[in-house]
Amino acid sequence: MPAAVGRVLDQVLADRVDRARTLNPLFADDVAERVARFSQGGHRTRSQLLWWALRACGGNDRASVVAGLRVGAALELLQTCALVHDDVMDDSALRRGRSALHADVCAQYAGAAAPARLEPFGKASAILAGDLALAWADDLMAETTLEPEVARRVRPMWSDMRTEMVAGQYLDIHGQAMASHSLPHALSTACLKSARYSVERPLALGAALARTDETTMRALRSAGHCVGMAFQLRDDLNDIFGDSRQTGKPVGGDIREGKPTYLIALARARAEASGDRHTLAILEHSLGRSDLSEADLDKVRDVLVATGARAMAEARIGRLVAQGLHHLDSALLDPEGGRRLRHVLNSAAPGGACHDHRRPDAAVPVAPLASAAEGACR
Ligand code: IPE
Ligand code: MG
Ligand code: MG
Ligand code: MG
Repeated sequence: MPAAVGRVLDQVLADRVDRARTLNPLFADDVAERVARFSQGGHRTRSQLLWWALRACGGNDRASVVAGLRVGAALELLQTCALVHDDVMDDSALRRGRSALHADVCAQYAGAAAPARLEPFGKASAILAGDLALAWADDLMAETTLEPEVARRVRPMWSDMRTEMVAGQYLDIHGQAMASHSLPHALSTACLKSARYSVERPLALGAALARTDETTMRALRSAGHCVGMAFQLRDDLNDIFGDSRQTGKPVGGDIREGKPTYLIALARARAEASGDRHTLAILEHSLGRSDLSEADLDKVRDVLVATGARAMAEARIGRLVAQGLHHLDSALLDPEGGRRLRHVLNSAAPGGACHDHRRPDAAVPVAPLASAAEGACR
């Protein structure tokens, strides 16, 4: 399935790059080709979620299959826009194990452009590249034939999803600028910047393409919300406890940038509740400091463990994934499609024990399923 989406992407990208080349070869080489190269990488998580939701909801006629691959490819292009812009906003130099797009432009022109102009040029180029990816994603959606009934559901979903993603990114940078400590703000941000467009909307798009009924749609959206929240909590944990050889992203970026993540808000809330001034001082000293050393990052890791914030986030991931899968139990799904859907949902936010790359044998226990609904967007 990822290969099938890859083939649709290859065709679309080849056509767009050719058209860019007729406009201007420098633009084609520097911007359009970079968008194409970036879009050919990644795990294809969103398009796989869409695809297996489509199959789970019984969409296997030719029209649904063709539309599923094209909308899946459009999701991957939207993801290119999101990540290329995100790395500018987060001043992050590594993505998918390579130079982030803005850093790659800087590397190409180092020595040719005046040093003071290089970084702004790299970032401005990445803004344009992200815009181009978004334009191509929208073009692909517009050029995908949908039956009128299907289009009435799919088109507003696509546009809502785009707005949600932008809203989430705004909440993220707002929380960062205001040094927000709020747990509800952290959860709303995670929901909009990640849960919706990474999981819930891809599932809903697949279900809508399969012309599914409202009850099944609700079950899939609820499942997507829960797993999507877990997906972002896992991303936050990986940022500090993960290994950049596996994540393909820098370690500690959230701390150095002072990101208002749930994990940090949790540690702070726990430290405040217990009057733990040592933890509060470490967080105060570390968050938003771009020159933080590895030893400083280790101190942050230690307080995340000591306050229980890490174990609580792990437990929450376990509960959210279990709840998400539980929502699917009530839906009438195609058995094979449903099985594959569960599998991609499970691997989107790996639960169970998380291993600290510093202490590979230290496993964190996962708490049992909670009964209350978890994590809203507001
Ligand atoms: C990015 O969130 C979400 C979007 C790109 C919309 P993060 O900033 O946490 O993503 P990573 O960790 O850099 O991938
Ligand atoms: Mg970000
Ligand atoms: Mg980022
Ligand atoms: Mg992140």
